[in-house]
Amino acid sequence: MLYAIGDPHLHFSVPLSLPMETSSPLWRDHEERFRQGWLHTVTEEDTVVVCGDISFGRNETQCRRDFAFLAALPGRKILLRGNHDNYWDAKKTEKLNERWKGTFSFLQNNHFSYGSVALVGTKGYAWEGKDPPEHAEMLVAREAERLELSFQSAAREGFSRFIVFLHFPPTNYIQRTSVFCRMAEKWGAEQVIYAHCHGRQRFDDSIRGMYKGIRYTLVSGDCLNWRPFRVL
Ligand SMILES: [Fe+2]
Repeated sequence: MLYAIGDPHLHFSVPLSLPMETSSPLWRDHEERFRQGWLHTVTEEDTVVVCGDISFGRNETQCRRDFAFLAALPGRKILLRGNHDNYWDAKKTEKLNERWKGTFSFLQNNHFSYGSVALVGTKGYAWEGKDPPEHAEMLVAREAERLELSFQSAAREGFSRFIVFLHFPPTNYIQRTSVFCRMAEKWGAEQVIYAHCHGRQRFDDSIRGMYKGIRYTLVSGDCLNWRPFRVL
């Protein structure tokens, strides 16, 4: 089976500081809920795409305990960058893949296969009112380019079935579509899976369900009650 879940927000080595991280009940013992949900769902034969915000560590040394926690769970693990994954330099993904070979696969400007289906993806970006608009446009363009590279990587190997993974939702709450949706449509992707939106009031920020023949699913950990979502 293929599963997805986002936002484990692991921080075994890094103290949290933002009020959202320290006081919200969403993030109380969530590591244990994440672990239990995974153990109840995933077997050693399964594949799980972890859709970003994996560790708050700022470098691999600070991620060591978080990565050990994740590595101890069953199944093949494909990781996606989130806005908190500062240890992951997008330009050095190949190095990460070399160092963690056999433990994690890092999805960025590349693709991985699940049978005859190509798993493609990137962090994505949806404007949340904080970044200046010109900066936001640059971020969208850069992420769109990275997603295109991921699709091209899969197409070069002959794949024609695609599932797209993003960390950010493909649209924000005032958009009806985006460059990420259009790219998924252009390539004929079957599904778009995304995370990042926390708390019930954010669950409908973006597209959910069928839209232009593509199934959109939010897989932030709290939205799933910490049970990985079955993608295929
Ligand atoms: Fe996030």
